[in-house]
Amino acid sequence: MSNEIVNVAVIGTGMGRYHMQDYSTLPDAKLVAICDLNEAEARFFAEKYGAPHVFSDYRRLFELPGLDAVSIAVPNYLHAPITLAALEAGLHVLCEKPMATTVEDATAMVEKARAVGKRLMVHMNMRFRDANLALGRLSAAGELGQVYYGRASMIRRRLVPVLHFPPNGTMGRGPWFLDKEKAGGGALMDIGVHTYDLMWWLMGCPRPVAVSAATFRKLYGDAAAKRGIKFDVDELASAMIRFENGATAFVDVSWAANQAAEWNVRVFGDKAGLMVSPATLFRDRDGVLESATIELPEMERFTPQAHFVDCIRHPEKALICPGEQGLQVVRVLDAIRRSAEQGREVAVA
Ligand SMILES: NC(=O)c1ccc[n+]([C@@H]2O[C@H](COP(=O)([O-])OP(=O)(O)OC[C@H]3O[C@@H](n4cnc5c(N)ncnc54)[C@H](O)[C@@H]3O)[C@@H](O)[C@H]2O)c1
Repeated sequence: MSNEIVNVAVIGTGMGRYHMQDYSTLPDAKLVAICDLNEAEARFFAEKYGAPHVFSDYRRLFELPGLDAVSIAVPNYLHAPITLAALEAGLHVLCEKPMATTVEDATAMVEKARAVGKRLMVHMNMRFRDANLALGRLSAAGELGQVYYGRASMIRRRLVPVLHFPPNGTMGRGPWFLDKEKAGGGALMDIGVHTYDLMWWLMGCPRPVAVSAATFRKLYGDAAAKRGIKFDVDELASAMIRFENGATAFVDVSWAANQAAEWNVRVFGDKAGLMVSPATLFRDRDGVLESATIELPEMERFTPQAHFVDCIRHPEKALICPGEQGLQVVRVLDAIRRSAEQGREVAVA
């Protein structure tokens, strides 16, 4: 496959439009089809990006001759069934986050990808953003020494999907975001997944063993009910995670809070520590405290879509966010949900 153009399709025209945009810039990929239940919107984007085929049913899309790969950017509860069908049809899959709403679904996706020998990548785009790939390299090279603590926060003052996102906006439009059955959770599944994932990856992906968590919905439940919108997910989630190697981490995320907005991820190691925003490496060089700004040169930057296509063309290359790691993240999200429901620390299943 290394010399061939990879034919890709995108399912979902909300966040999916950013996948289309990125594929359309790649010399080694061709965007051949767009699929959305909203066929008019699928047609609009197909015309915009020059994709020759339009579908409203993903099953029909998967019958398209010559299709190699698909990006799946639909509501969370559809990630597993559509991914399984795509893999079954012999396609490589780039699936939006969270990979799935249950551990069972995420496990089935990983097993199916292995069984059919296709790539399964999760769209953890924060790993690729700003200087984060450079921070990841420093961590992977052992520059931090023994990593013993992580701290990550994404606090939004007012940004609840559907309630605060414009209905004709680019994403966060569907009422499913606020529906536990369809989203699997609220701020936790929407932004907690990114925040935890980036911290965990920068910590070197230690094996999670236990979680103590709480979730809240205090500010917008009534406002949603007044508009006739089901809102039974968390607005704020906070969790402490214990890892098998003795490290711990603390994560809190909110869609709405009477607080200043905040976004950062910090990783603490015994040789050095790092922070994401702004990207900094903190060190003690023989008693001299150094804070070095980390940058990733423009020429070394690439998008998740470019990486996905590259890994399809070069099967020997390792994915930066493989399905196996997406599954480990879903295990923690599931434990956070269970711990919050039970009001006690729980083991990661
Ligand atoms: N990585 C990121 O930064 C990021 C950002 C936003 C959203 N997301 C993820 O992307 C996914 C979609 O989110 P969104 O904000 O675009 O949601 P959205 O509700 O705005 O759009 C979802 C789209 O999926 C379509 N759809 C629903 N069911 C379908 C089906 N069976 N077949 C084809 N199309 C179908 C809808 O018509 C809609 O156009 C979610 O999993 C979300 O978590 C990721």
